[in-house]
Amino acid sequence: MAMVCLTDFEEYAKEHLSKATWDYYAAGADECCTRDDNLLAYKRIRLRPRILRDVSVSDTRTTVQGTEISFPVGIAPTAFHCLAWHEGEVATARATEALNTCYITSTYSTCSVEEIVAAAPNGYRWFQLYVYRDRKLSEQIVHRVEGLGYKALVLTVDVPYTGKRRDDIRNQFKLPPHLKVKNFDGVFQQETAGPEEYGIPANTLDPSISWKDVYWLQSITRLPIIIKGILTKEDAELAVEHGVQGIIVSNHGGRQLDGGPATIDALAEIVDTVQGRLEVYLDGGIRTGSDVLKALALGAKCVFIGRPAVWGLAYKGEEGLREVLQILNDEFRLSMALSGCRNVAEINRNLIQFSKL
Ligand code: FNR
Repeated sequence: MAMVCLTDFEEYAKEHLSKATWDYYAAGADECCTRDDNLLAYKRIRLRPRILRDVSVSDTRTTVQGTEISFPVGIAPTAFHCLAWHEGEVATARATEALNTCYITSTYSTCSVEEIVAAAPNGYRWFQLYVYRDRKLSEQIVHRVEGLGYKALVLTVDVPYTGKRRDDIRNQFKLPPHLKVKNFDGVFQQETAGPEEYGIPANTLDPSISWKDVYWLQSITRLPIIIKGILTKEDAELAVEHGVQGIIVSNHGGRQLDGGPATIDALAEIVDTVQGRLEVYLDGGIRTGSDVLKALALGAKCVFIGRPAVWGLAYKGEEGLREVLQILNDEFRLSMALSGCRNVAEINRNLIQFSKL
């Protein structure tokens, strides 16, 4: 079967993964309104294409945190890649290195950060961090990834508690015993039985985390800090005031609070507030090249894909993810050209038809 667009990979993954694994990747919180709106919101936005602008040459390159990437789509942190493909995050690292884009490794990776770096030594990577009740644990992993050449820390702030994902509860989903959260081998794999979530001990994350922990994080690292999970201008302003280097406008793929905004709908007020004082990125619902174009037109510097990356892995590991990224790159290039943009600097708000928003 020819893989033409990202939904082809979705269909393949749905057919070939076990039901429990598919449900886990697909899950949204509660009634999945926010998860679904992440996609629907793009379909409400119309573009204002410009014509006769000589688009014979187009350039999709951009920079994030001062580093050049081949196009403005990276990999959002998602857990447990070994569930989708036996090589797991090692395959993800190789594919993103080959395509020269940014890979945000999840705390809950099923390969260790050392294995990931060894598999793709020249890849450009950020590390996604949760703050644990045991701050020493967070501190150790920060120093570990800093030493391994990770280029930024992505602090996920929308999980004081795990959202209620109905299918996971019905399936009693948990990481199978042959897989491990490798970065915390022996720490997360608690010896004694206790309450668990997804096969790892529950209550490891600290729900008391607050803005002062951003200062704490800054005190233990020299890496740029990017806050993932901001959806309002108020929090965007606080992020600027706390001196972080970036924001990912994200609702965790609709897996946390149900009823929050689609990320593309939250983007504009955040970009307007931030006024270029830090870089604004976005994830959630990106499925086509024109989605990428719309997000950039509304002010995102780069976007990230979560589930589509896992579908690519489920299809053919490294090769499957390369295909997913290549298709998005090609579609983005085409959308740029068809709307009269020769490079990413030419993408701006004039491309958006606001009367239809
Ligand atoms: C996630 N996400 C996530 N985020 C994070 O900060 N740490 C993590 O470990 C995970 N794990 C995770 C697992 C799975 C299966 C999914 C689907 C999502 C959220 C992720 O980074 C991102 O915000 C969304 O996936 C983006 O939405 P799309 O691209 O999946 O629509």
